[in-house]
Amino acid sequence: MDKAAALARRLAAGEALTDGELLTLLEQRTVESAEILRAAAVETARKTFGNRVYLRGLIEFTNYCKNDCYYCGIRRSNRKAERYRLSPEVILACCDAGYDLGFRTFVLQGGEDGWWTDDKLCNLLTAIKKTHPDCAVTLSIGERSRESYAALKQAGADRYLLRHETANDAHYAHLHPPELRLEHRIRCLYDLKELGYQVGAGMMVGSPGQTLSNLVEDLRFLQELQPHMVGMGPFLRHRDTPFANEPDGSADLTLYLLSMVRLLLPKVLLPATTALGTALEGGRERGILHGANVVMPNLSPADVRSKYLLYHDKLATGAESANGLNQLRTNLQAIGYEAVVARGDAPTL
Ligand code: 5AD
Repeated sequence: MDKAAALARRLAAGEALTDGELLTLLEQRTVESAEILRAAAVETARKTFGNRVYLRGLIEFTNYCKNDCYYCGIRRSNRKAERYRLSPEVILACCDAGYDLGFRTFVLQGGEDGWWTDDKLCNLLTAIKKTHPDCAVTLSIGERSRESYAALKQAGADRYLLRHETANDAHYAHLHPPELRLEHRIRCLYDLKELGYQVGAGMMVGSPGQTLSNLVEDLRFLQELQPHMVGMGPFLRHRDTPFANEPDGSADLTLYLLSMVRLLLPKVLLPATTALGTALEGGRERGILHGANVVMPNLSPADVRSKYLLYHDKLATGAESANGLNQLRTNLQAIGYEAVVARGDAPTL
């Protein structure tokens, strides 16, 4: 048995590995170590979630962004991005349509858009919760003040996704302009947690400058934060960014890390992301078969979907859209899973 397979067995058995051992597990990844992690991760997910997969309806409601992250297609310096902002009425209509399709969680994701003040967001949250009191609302709108997070929570937000992107300071500075600080992002995550949100962190896999030991730091950060959700997908280049010529992240390494995260954080809500679905044929199903338990089909109106391009060739049709929901259900059934109509809150940790 190879060294990584031996380490994989120990991780699968619930043993704590040292940083050095986690690094070796990543560095010496083999087909055998991957299969050991995969099988154990699926088993672990089954213990908490059975064969249920939670659906989240993703509404990409604005692609205006004041930030200039080097990897992201909707960065403010990208003059070629066609900017749009959905009106509250359109967002509510997306939620209504999603509700009829069986969604009980709406994820409102957008760039850091100054137009969306706390007041406007609070009104929107109040309206969604009034029509759909049985639904959870997740926000994914970047860094804001603690006061803002508190107001949004008060208005009805239940969950918040804010990927940490990388837990290494120097790597963070390689991915972001100087005004964005890892320290601040981490502060936001702890604020959100303290305010009672179910919180999601996460990182891109294979982002420019990332080393495998950076990924070990990410795993340790996640273990320390104990988020309710972990969002993780491969880095995929966008031609109108400074990283246009960087190689895409590996889908296989992403799957391997999904399994590791499932084993390290057994009850975490773990989506098979759009980026994984884009990078790999059947990527979302593959993600489920590596320990993920959430998928987030796109509920955004068709005419704006192609404008929310964080990276290239993003899945925008078929099983990715709510229209393709039946296809997604069928695909999940084919691998032994069932897409459920439920809020799908994080199990108590
Ligand atoms: N490739 C993959 N993921 C990306 N994201 C942003 N740009 C890219 C890209 N080029 C991810 C970031 C962000 C999330 C909304 O999308 O991790 O937090």
